[in-house]
Amino acid sequence: MGFTVRASCLGINLTIKDRILSYQKEFKVAKQASEAGAKIIRKYTKESSFEVTLKGKNDLVTDADLASEKEIIARIRDSFPDDEILAEETERKITLPKGRVWIIDPIDGTTNFAHGFPAYCISIALWDNNVPVVGLVLEVANNELFHAIKGEGAFKNGQPIQISEENDPASSLIGTGFPYKELGLVDNYLKMFKRMMGKTHGVRRPGTAAWDLCNVACGRFEGFYEYGLSAWDVAAGALIIKEAGGKVMDWNGGDDWLFGERIIAGNTPICDFLLKEVQQCFTEDELKPE
Ligand code: IPD
Ligand code: CA
Ligand code: CA
Repeated sequence: MGFTVRASCLGINLTIKDRILSYQKEFKVAKQASEAGAKIIRKYTKESSFEVTLKGKNDLVTDADLASEKEIIARIRDSFPDDEILAEETERKITLPKGRVWIIDPIDGTTNFAHGFPAYCISIALWDNNVPVVGLVLEVANNELFHAIKGEGAFKNGQPIQISEENDPASSLIGTGFPYKELGLVDNYLKMFKRMMGKTHGVRRPGTAAWDLCNVACGRFEGFYEYGLSAWDVAAGALIIKEAGGKVMDWNGGDDWLFGERIIAGNTPICDFLLKEVQQCFTEDELKPE
């Protein structure tokens, strides 16, 4: 009897603790910020009047990226003034600050956006002491909202999603991204690409890594691999995949994927398959960041 009472007390305590730890308010603010960013992006699309500037070889930024980022940061700072911000265009950092950090890509898929190709998104993540706790990806052209809160599942437009259960590479659709800024690894990338063409149902390259990861989370892709990525490309999508039952890893099967520039994602058998393939195609030096 005494045990039952203690157990039910524990149950109540856990519920309260869970409520305290839930990041619902943060998700709500991220969602509103992404909607405000999307409104700005759509205005630029409608008026077709944005300036494209080159940050480096094939590395585009537009007025819409800058305006979207400004709006998203303002809204997050308004609600959480003490949190750190890591954002692609104005608040870059090369390591993760301690505590709570918002990681923002104001348009992921800028090249698509600039060419009117309808696949680009806003990616917003909150990491708390090195752990991803909120992830949101809003694909702007089709208004497709993916989100996850740690421990609470993953969703597409409010409906629960799960990764694919297909574990045979030969029946799998694989997502990737083509290298276009740094072409040093391109020969071995093509080797990998050729093997994927021969061993899977096919390979897709939408050109927006954050949304690509969501395509794994909702089972459209069985797996995904890419190199040359930044923290803001993967910070949100990775949590959405994990909460949908999937895995993310670096190219050595480890956890260095946020700043490690290389990622593999999918269900366990497809991750194992992709890991084996990258290990066979790239040199030891190429499998890790410089
Ligand atoms: C890019 C996209 C693209 C990926 C690049 C990223 P951006 O982000 O995610 O799919 O292949 O590596 O840099 O520059 O459009 O935000
Ligand atoms: Ca990006
Ligand atoms: Ca971007």
